[in-house]
This record gives sequence, C-alpha cells and structure tokens, in this order.
Amino acid sequence: MKSDDCYVVLLHDHPEFLEQCACLINKQWKRSLSARIQSLEKSYKDLPNSLLLIENINGNKKVIGHSRLSRVLEDPSGCWIGSVIIGDEKRNKGYGKYLMQKSEEYAKELHFSTVYLNTQDKQGFYEHLGYSYGKEVSCINFRMDDLLKNNFLNLQNKQKDHLRVSNVKQSENDFSKELANINISSPVPENGPPPPPPPPPPSPSDKNKKLTSTFNNLGQYWMEKRL
Ligand SMILES: CC(C)(COP(=O)(O)OP(=O)(O)OC[C@H]1O[C@@H](n2cnc3c(N)ncnc32)[C@H](O)[C@@H]1OP(=O)(O)O)[C@@H](O)C(=O)NCCC(=O)NCCS
Repeated sequence: MKSDDCYVVLLHDHPEFLEQCACLINKQWKRSLSARIQSLEKSYKDLPNSLLLIENINGNKKVIGHSRLSRVLEDPSGCWIGSVIIGDEKRNKGYGKYLMQKSEEYAKELHFSTVYLNTQDKQGFYEHLGYSYGKEVSCINFRMDDLLKNNFLNLQNKQKDHLRVSNVKQSENDFSKELANINISSPVPENGPPPPPPPPPPSPSDKNKKLTSTFNNLGQYWMEKRL
C-alpha cells in the first residue's frame, strides 16, 4: 500500500462519493441501491458518519474502502465501527489496517475512549489490530438530535392529548355536578371494570432458550479496544 496514493474523507463532507460508496458496500452485503443510499445519506459530523478510503491515481478518484462510525447505546464514551470493507481487488495490501487506524483516530478526535464492533469471521484481523473479546452492545443508527427532536414532538403530542383529555374530564365533571344538583346518580360505574391480570413472567428455561438462539442465529463475536 502506498499511503500517498490514498487518503480518508468523511462522506458527510463528500456527497459526490455517495453512489460509489453504496455500490462498494452492496457488492459485499446485498441490498437495494436506493435503500443503501438512503441509509448512507444519514451521515453527520456528530455521527453516524462514514469514513471513505479514496484512491487517487493521476487525479482519478475511487472509493476503495468504507467504515461507519456510530454511537453506542450502552456506553456514551463508546464508538461503534461497522460496515468495514475494502474493495476485493485491494485486499491483503494493508488498506484495511490503515482504514481502521484512521477510524480509531477519528473516534478519538470525537473524544470517544472505547471502540466496539462485531464480526462473524474476521476476528483474526481485529485481534491483530489489538481488539479483544468484549460485551454485546447496540449501535445507534440515527442522529441523537433527531431522536431528541422526535421525543420533543412526541412529548408535545402527548401534552396536546393530555389537554384534550383534561378538557373532556372537565366537561364530565361539570356534567356530574349538574347531575348531583338534580339528585340523579351517574349510570356509569366510576372505576370501570378491573384491568386484566399481567402476563406471567418468562420461566428461567424460556430466558435461556432466547439467549442461546440469539447467539446461534447471529454467530457473532463482540470485540472492543480502548483508545
Ligand atoms: C476484513 C478486511 C477489511 C481486511 O482488510 P485488508 O485490507 O484485506 O487487510 P490488511 O491487508 O490491511 O491486513 C492487515 C493485517 O491483518 C492481517 N489480517 C488480515 N485478515 C486477517 C484475518 N482474517 N485473520 C488474521 N489476520 C488477518 C494481515 O495479515 C495484515 O497483517 P500485517 O499487518 O502483519 O501485514 C477485508 O478483508 C474485507 O473488506 N473483507 C470483506 C468485508 C468484511 O468481512 N469486513 C469485516 C466486517 S466485520
């Protein structure tokens, strides 16, 4: 690998590479091109974001590698590195190692202290780069700002619903007062029927079954590295 022939950019800053990047990933992990482009378009400086490895030969620029960095649900100081790929004709030349180094540097720049990933069969590669086996975590595939915005909108809607219910209750109260005044009791029982009992908790054997099948179905190794 000649590092002066290639460099890393953020997809967020270089949307001109979006389609090439989607094609590179789709060659390895099949998905509709438009769906892939749509999910890659959700790239932000404050994550999730994609790092692209660009090869520049005489001004001819080509995407030859990709990694995607996201936040981690269980660890605010953790950064998820996923969808790591090097174009098949460029493999085993040191590009993967270079891209991982750059991904870790970027995570460090964003003040993350641990990187997490999972893999089905490339554990040897990651072990070689200093990763060890760790706990299962979940990556957050959307922007935190969008989540907060959505939560705010949900809260607003709930408040509106609450106001609507309060108004209905108020008119019900007014109506009850009127009924009391004319000395007729409400025909509707005040507390209504009792709620149904909650479902029974899962038995210990059910829990074990679920854990075992999750592990078997995915067959993934969870790995992490302190930065
Ligand atoms: C996994 C992948 C990114 C590695 O990239 P690469 O460019 O082929 O790897 P590199 O040439 O940079 O290898 C770096 C080092 O890791 C070692 N290595 C690579 N793959 C390895 C493996 N499977 N097991 C053990 N060591 C491995 C290399 O021997 C090399 O060692 P060196 O630094 O001592 O020379 C690439 O093979 C790929 O894109 N695979 C398909 C997509 C994929 O499976 N991605 C991983 C998803 S979790």
